[in-house]
Amino acid sequence: MLKIDNVTMKFGGVIAANKFNANIKKGQIVGLIGPNGAGKTTIFNVVTGVYKPTEGRVIFNAGDKEHIISGKRPDEIAKLGICRTFQNIRLFKDMSVLDNVFVANHLRIKSNVFSSILRTPGYRKEEKEMLEKSLYLLDRVGLLKERNEKANSLPYGKQRRLEIARALATDPKLLLLDEPAAGMNPQESSELMEFILNIKDEFDLTVFLIEHHMDVVMGICEEIFVLDHGELIAQGDPEAIQNNQRVIEAYLGVE
Ligand SMILES: Nc1ncnc2c1ncn2[C@@H]1O[C@H](COP(=O)(O)OP(=O)(O)OP(=O)(O)O)[C@@H](O)[C@H]1O
Ligand SMILES: [Mg+2]
Repeated sequence: MLKIDNVTMKFGGVIAANKFNANIKKGQIVGLIGPNGAGKTTIFNVVTGVYKPTEGRVIFNAGDKEHIISGKRPDEIAKLGICRTFQNIRLFKDMSVLDNVFVANHLRIKSNVFSSILRTPGYRKEEKEMLEKSLYLLDRVGLLKERNEKANSLPYGKQRRLEIARALATDPKLLLLDEPAAGMNPQESSELMEFILNIKDEFDLTVFLIEHHMDVVMGICEEIFVLDHGELIAQGDPEAIQNNQRVIEAYLGVE
């Protein structure tokens, strides 16, 4: 589904990713781990069109045809079916929880601006569907009760789940999660793990996950890529990664 082909990303003298390669198959949950500054978020930024890679290509195929997405705009890439959450949460802070999800639906809207201004029956029908879908997604992430609260009044863990609901509202095929368990306690991160597995099945998703909580990564990823200083130092299943000497030295530690 996603092929990251020899991607290098340089910022001045900093090589944030060096000749990185990864293949992700449909239906997989794939992890991306490594110490702070290793280049993980940079890879997500390249895949989602925030950065154009210095070298290399990213190819996305959701089953219809191959699209070379490196060089495309973030909104074009989102339309093809790739959506993400951010390490530093990005919500419309002063808008309600419900409105945050509602506006995210607009990526798929068919009505044009005139029908929305004139509130044609077609637009009203679509608006009603978006509202129902938003309420369903909020229920799904456990935030229905909070729907009328302001987004920034929610505790951290709930804001992270709201971000996931917003991502799901765009009907993604590939979902990129950048540290969804950050700031969560063990109980919450174990619930999140369960939740990711459930939405993957329900929405037929492929998931690419950056996470420092190793219980989450090792618990749900089939395959894991390990970055260190922009270099891929290991790739394999959770067991292979946990026993990889280089990964232990660079990241996991002896314990
Ligand atoms: N826009 C940018 N301009 C300059 N340098 C950048 C930019 N984005 C990332 N970098 C640098 O690239 C390197 C990789 O950063 P990145 O954010 O990808 O790391 P990360 O693995 O996500 O780390 P963390 O676990 O802390 O989130 C770092 O040295 C960072 O300072
Ligand atoms: Mg990061």
